[in-house]
Amino acid sequence: PKDVGICAIHVVVPSLYVDQADLERYDQVSKGKYTVGLGQKQMGFCTDLEDVNSLCLTAVSQLIENNGISYSDIGRLEVGTETIIDKSKSAKTVLMKLFEASGNFQVEGIDTTNACYGGTAALFNALSWIESSSWDGRLAVVVAADIAVYAKGNARPTGGAGAVAMLIGPGASLVVDRGLRGTYMNHAYDFYKPDLSSEYPVVDGKLSVDCYLNALDRCYESYLSKCHGGEVGLNRFDSFVFHAPYCKLVRKSLARLYMNDFINEIGANDENHQHQDWAVAEKTFVELSRTVFEDKTEPSLLLASRVGNTYTASVYSGLASYLLSVPPERLPGKRIGMFSYGSGLASSMYSIKVVDNGGLPGMIGNLKKGVDRLDERTRLAPEQFADVLDSRQKSLHRASYVPVGDRGQLFPGTWFLSGIDELHRRFYERN
Ligand code: ACO
Repeated sequence: PKDVGICAIHVVVPSLYVDQADLERYDQVSKGKYTVGLGQKQMGFCTDLEDVNSLCLTAVSQLIENNGISYSDIGRLEVGTETIIDKSKSAKTVLMKLFEASGNFQVEGIDTTNACYGGTAALFNALSWIESSSWDGRLAVVVAADIAVYAKGNARPTGGAGAVAMLIGPGASLVVDRGLRGTYMNHAYDFYKPDLSSEYPVVDGKLSVDCYLNALDRCYESYLSKCHGGEVGLNRFDSFVFHAPYCKLVRKSLARLYMNDFINEIGANDENHQHQDWAVAEKTFVELSRTVFEDKTEPSLLLASRVGNTYTASVYSGLASYLLSVPPERLPGKRIGMFSYGSGLASSMYSIKVVDNGGLPGMIGNLKKGVDRLDERTRLAPEQFADVLDSRQKSLHRASYVPVGDRGQLFPGTWFLSGIDELHRRFYERN
């Protein structure tokens, strides 16, 4: 099959958010720490009415409906998430509920987990299926969804929640470049979730940032080594989208690639050299790369700055944000670099070429429907946000349980958890 890639994207943003400046006051940190220091404006969150299953149900059902396809057109459905609510039963099997009416139960694919990387692993699986001898000619759906919440403390403002569902097939508008991938995986305890009774991770923030930036170097080096012909460096890309734990790190990441280009040009590309110099060089390269950042990366931060880290969905929210920032008629021909990082750690860099196949305007129009919800959200006070997180944490594994969140605050068309019975079986309804 030709031009395999992303044919449609749908973004789900939570209906509630807290303002980061409000949060600075509430947390009694210095003014500007979250808004300037981390680069965050707002943070999306969900009450106990939503869990990762309901986010996936909302994302997949709206993707299918908005794009006028049928559940029987889908031959593979992959879920990427790190929000685990059951040690055995996958979110994918919950999503099969949506397929019942169509009678299509022949749907391959299952959940993939490793921190924020699961969505990318799911995408790679879907692409491989279509390029393989097992492909039956149907489309694939990839959904990446997470609820990112941290215990009280310095990591809490880097939370978020959301989902991105993507339709994968041949003849796509966003064609994933073949044979051009850089991957770096290693063993690290930078961020992990050993306590299965809590939604909160154990996180070594500084280590996670070091691991992220090192993985970025390694993936970039590997990606560039596979480029034959054309520019070998940032000039190769019209846009560069990064996994976005918080926007400031993305700003630094673009600067880091800029520094890599600089080192490659002067031919001093030994690893120690790069690493030791970063502490000193960071400020300089952030300055030097300013216009490149504004041009290639800043437009991808709309959702990251207003919703926060959506873990597996983050880099795909970045892609969606970038696509909406460019007039659709100027998109064809653009090449987008993608960097996906999941703590623990797993990371990949790959690229996408935008192709004019007639589908773009429809795709962008449908994408807008989800992202436009950003302006229709309800702003809650930091006290209310903290209460919601406390109540989520307390109720996480209770059975039986009826959620206490306000259904009236959900967007129309949102799936929600209506109850959990004494056997821990979860039931969902649609708003
Ligand atoms: N005004 C402006 N800037 C400020 C202010 C202020 N009042 N106060 C602090 N800052 C700046 C700091 O100088 C710093 O800038 P720098 O990064 O350029 O040095 C920045 O704000 C952050 O301040 P720190 O004191 O370094 O922040 P802290 O250590 O409290 O927390 C951290 C930051 C570690 C990122 C924390 O939020 C965290 O652990 N988050 C979760 C882990 C994470 O997201 N890791 C990223 C990769 S892994 C993943 O995706 C989960």
